[in-house]
Amino acid sequence: MEKLRIGFLASHNGSNMQAIIDSIKRGELDAIPAVVISNNSNAFALERARREGIPAYHISSKQYPTEEELDKAILETLIKHNVNIVCLAGYMKKVGPKVLNYFKNRVLNIHPALLPKFGGKGMFGKFVHEAVLNAGEKESGCTVHLVDEIYDHGRILGQKIVPVYPDDTVETLAQRVLEQEHKLYPEVLQKIAKGEIVLD
Ligand code: GAR
Repeated sequence: MEKLRIGFLASHNGSNMQAIIDSIKRGELDAIPAVVISNNSNAFALERARREGIPAYHISSKQYPTEEELDKAILETLIKHNVNIVCLAGYMKKVGPKVLNYFKNRVLNIHPALLPKFGGKGMFGKFVHEAVLNAGEKESGCTVHLVDEIYDHGRILGQKIVPVYPDDTVETLAQRVLEQEHKLYPEVLQKIAKGEIVLD
């Protein structure tokens, strides 16, 4: 497979994106961070991209009022930077059909729970951990999966498990899961780079 050129879509902090970039810099992941796109002009992910010298774009419904225009603008930006794999990293918007069709089986997401449990619309960030705690689960974790038109539904590419402790809060559990996310995402990408995971 050709060298991975990653296009990141991120809405907020971008710590997963940073973990992938750091893994590339350490020589553990054979890939190029090609472009970062955020729907949120204040996203720290955009600041991280600038610090790393990666082209960074704010593309949102503010500039592109219809979903179709927005989808097209994101696709054109990914193509312009020769992206061949798209990584959602805390991206809180649904990916449009043009991007999904063009990058079929090439759009990945990380989710902070053990899918297929605790996924679906409205299940993001702290809501996921809240649901895990309310369900009395003994284990949680994170999942990297392919993105299709249904939320948190595509093929699972990798998971890591963490314990849930009786005195956990949303914050303590989120932190334990996030530490594993930062390991899992680069590991899955390196397996793709080495051909150990085949996306087609
Ligand atoms: C991560 O925990 C990620 O799993 C979650 O948002 C956080 C983003 O953190 N994503 C979802 O909940 C998607 N449904 P980051 O911006 O620091 O990478």
